[in-house]
Amino acid sequence: MHTAIGTDLACAAEILRAGGLVAIPTETVYGLAADALDEDAVLRIYEAKQRPRFNPLILHTHSFDTFRRYASDIPEACLSLAEAFCPGPLTFLLPKRDIVPELVTAGSSRVALRVPDHPVARELLQGLDGPLAAPSANPSGYVSPVTARHVMEGLEGRIPYILDGGPCRVGLESTIVSFSQEAVILHRHGAVTAEAIHRITGMAVREPVEGLVETPGQLKSHYAPRVPLQVCDVGDWLRRHGGERTAVISFQTYYRDPQPRWSRVLSPSGDLHEAARNLFHAMRELDTLEADLILAETFPDTGLGKAINDRLERAQTRYRTGV
Ligand code: TXA
Ligand code: MG
Repeated sequence: MHTAIGTDLACAAEILRAGGLVAIPTETVYGLAADALDEDAVLRIYEAKQRPRFNPLILHTHSFDTFRRYASDIPEACLSLAEAFCPGPLTFLLPKRDIVPELVTAGSSRVALRVPDHPVARELLQGLDGPLAAPSANPSGYVSPVTARHVMEGLEGRIPYILDGGPCRVGLESTIVSFSQEAVILHRHGAVTAEAIHRITGMAVREPVEGLVETPGQLKSHYAPRVPLQVCDVGDWLRRHGGERTAVISFQTYYRDPQPRWSRVLSPSGDLHEAARNLFHAMRELDTLEADLILAETFPDTGLGKAINDRLERAQTRYRTGV
């Protein structure tokens, strides 16, 4: 199959209406979209990404008002968060209605819903009748794409069209939340931080119970480059082993003495938003070189730093376990 990159919304809509796949830009990462209410179309997503069927997909809509069609029991805290962050990089896990195919939710009784904040995605969604199911537009397990070119590198020949909306503004996947009586459960860290969720809802914000896989995509090994990645005290590692064939991802620091062969400083001025935006670019670039190992610093554990640390942690698991 020939894969084209372009900015033709009518072409994208036509493919989607016919049950095909289109990679779409969002403010977080590029998504691989299909008509969420068409099971055959949704199946094509799993095939193109080689994604395990037990890993459900996020439903994207053009406005929060449509959530009631797909979800029941929308709690007060969800309404407050939607007011603050819809459209935006926040995904809600809510009890699903029958209209949502089981294939989208991988058999779960909950559906993930989000309103992306990207002009191209919004215009596309507004022109369609229904919602789009869209996971990140990368082969399963690899680093998410934050440009149309990244999508091409991973999915060329497997999808007909990539809608180019430029580089993603946020650069990390959306924050995912669900609700219990007394708390907001934070399933994935992202640009909407735990602090912000607490401020808006006044509720406690908790991590899911350990050992209970509630969001299957949060399996440990994920977002991983092919070159082994290790989170460590980079300066110390370089002093002990030298920097030959070694690449470094750091927040603000340029390591010298010894100097690593390659390095990516994500934000010299210390801005975590800028660092988040640059993280997947850096991982992907360093993955194309002759490096034996990518070393990464631990980022400040506040705000977006938590989401960055989470992605780095998951990227290194394969190295640790050898799988
Ligand atoms: O920013 C984002 O969320 C991007 C853009 C394209 O919207 N999408 C994205 O999708 O990151 P994906 O499929 O790569 O990650 C979605 C995560 C996975 O961990 C999946 O297991 C979880 O959401 N998820 C989706 N639906 C779920 C459901 N019904 N119940 C539990 N977890 C769900
Ligand atoms: Mg993904």
